[in-house]
Amino acid sequence: MDRGSVKIAPSILAADFARLGAQVIEAEQAGADRIHVDVMDGHFVPNLSMGAPIVQALRRVTHLPLETHLMISDPDSFLEEFAEAGSDSLLVHWEGNNNLHRTVQRAKALGKRVGVVINPATPAAVLEEILSDVQQVLVMTVNPGFGHQHFIHTTLPKIGRVRQMIERIKPGCDLEVDGGIDAETAPLTVAAGANVLVAGSAIFGDNGGVAAAMKRLGDSIKRGGWHARGHCHGSRWVCIEGGTIRPAPCGGA
Ligand code: DX5
Ligand code: ZN
Repeated sequence: MDRGSVKIAPSILAADFARLGAQVIEAEQAGADRIHVDVMDGHFVPNLSMGAPIVQALRRVTHLPLETHLMISDPDSFLEEFAEAGSDSLLVHWEGNNNLHRTVQRAKALGKRVGVVINPATPAAVLEEILSDVQQVLVMTVNPGFGHQHFIHTTLPKIGRVRQMIERIKPGCDLEVDGGIDAETAPLTVAAGANVLVAGSAIFGDNGGVAAAMKRLGDSIKRGGWHARGHCHGSRWVCIEGGTIRPAPCGGA
C-alpha cells in the first residue's frame, strides 16, 4: 500500500487482549509500521493499562518496532525495564516532568529512540529546547488516558506549528499524532504535517477486521497527501503549485 512517507502505528489499547499476539500479527501483515503500547499508571492519567511484560511478550511475536507511550508519573524509574523488555522507542510526556532533559538523556543512554509527548492544552513552543535531542514528537489529539475519544480539532494548527519547528530545528524528526485518528481525521492531520498516525479503535475496533481497517485508513491518508498539496473544488482538484486541474482524488468531498 502506498501511503507515501506516512506511517501507521496501531495502538493495542483497543485490541482484544485475549488474542493480543494474533491481533498484532494481523496488523503487521496488513502493513503496520510500528506497534504503539500505551502504559498508564492511574496517577498521571486516571486509568490503568499495561506494563513491561506485555512488551516482552509482543517482542516474541512481531518484528515491528514497539513504541512505548509512558503515561506515568515517574518515567525515569521504568525506562530500563521497558528497554530490557524490548521497547524500541520510549515516549515521555513534557507535562509533570521537572527534569525532562535528564529523562531524555537516560532514555538515549539505553540506546533507544526517544520521543517527547505534549497534551492538547500544551503549546508547541515548549518543544523548542528539547527538539534537537529527540527523534520523535507526539502531539496528543485527545486528552491521554482512554481510547475511543473524539479528536480535538483545535490541535490541528499546533500540528502545523510543530511541523515548522521540526523543519527548522530537527529535519527528519517524526511528528506523530495520537487519539481519535480515523479515516475522517487522519487526512486532516497529514495535511497539517503529521507523518506517523497512532490509531486504536479505528483499527482494532473495526467489525470488518484489522486488514480492512488498515486499508481504509491508508486510503484516507493518500487523500490527506492530496489535500496538503491542493484543494478540491467540487469534482475537480486544483494543485497549489502550478494550478494543475484534475479529477478530485477525494471524489469531490
Ligand atoms: C490515549 C492513548 C492512545 C489510544 C488511542 O491515551 O494514548 O494511544 O490508544 O486510541 P483511539 O485511537 O481509540 O483514540
Ligand atoms: Zn498512546
